[in-house]
Amino acid sequence: MHPKDSPISVYTEHLLKDDDMMRRLDGYVQMQHVYNAAIREVTTKLQILDEEFQCRYDHNPIHHIESRLKSPRSIVEKLNRRDAEISVESARQNLTDIAGIRVICCYIEDVYRIAELLLLQDDVTLLRRSDYIEQPKKNGYRSLHLVVQIPVYLSDRTELVPVEVQIRTEAMDFWASLEHQMHYKAGKEISCEWKDQLRECAEDLARIDRKMQKIYKHLQ
Ligand code: GTP
Ligand code: MG
Repeated sequence: MHPKDSPISVYTEHLLKDDDMMRRLDGYVQMQHVYNAAIREVTTKLQILDEEFQCRYDHNPIHHIESRLKSPRSIVEKLNRRDAEISVESARQNLTDIAGIRVICCYIEDVYRIAELLLLQDDVTLLRRSDYIEQPKKNGYRSLHLVVQIPVYLSDRTELVPVEVQIRTEAMDFWASLEHQMHYKAGKEISCEWKDQLRECAEDLARIDRKMQKIYKHLQ
């Protein structure tokens, strides 16, 4: 019998595997905690800004906020797509959308105002900005995307955590939900005819967004 196959070796190997598994699970739980904390911090910042606008200007720029932590399955799929190692460390290094916040605003100007005020805060660092309102994606997708980094204060260290913030109007959100659903249901293959119709809808909604903004400003 090869020494490696002896019952004792098999047993210790098992223990080592369990140990490794425990270490990885522990790492994942810790990451989940830190990224959840980052979501709460940024959400609180946004809520405070919204409340201030309510107090000072009798206007709520934010209609509502949604947030999510990327699921382990999505993390693994994205790391695989990028040919990156599958580990907690690799997820932290390679992905900036583990923590995600979606801010649904009433008007286009609110989108830019909220983004500007969030970025003015001392502990918020901008890592990436993609303005898909100024330059919509080919399919018609519109939103302002920010990847910001904020400090999360822990008992023995401070972690700088990236958070993806998507800011959009209700109309843009309405469109993105339908487009996402079509992708999901049609298994990522939407026929040209439907693609054209979706793009038209995106343009119609953008026109309505601009019109509503104008009327609202006029009322003020
Ligand atoms: P991902 O690998 O998908 O995260 O893309 P990325 O890192 O290049 O970032 P991008 O700004 O393109 O998209 C980030 C997120 O925005 C996506 O995960 C979606 O939530 C949303 N998004 C981007 N493009 C679209 C789109 O065409 N339709 C919809 N419904 N959502 C989109
Ligand atoms: Mg993403």
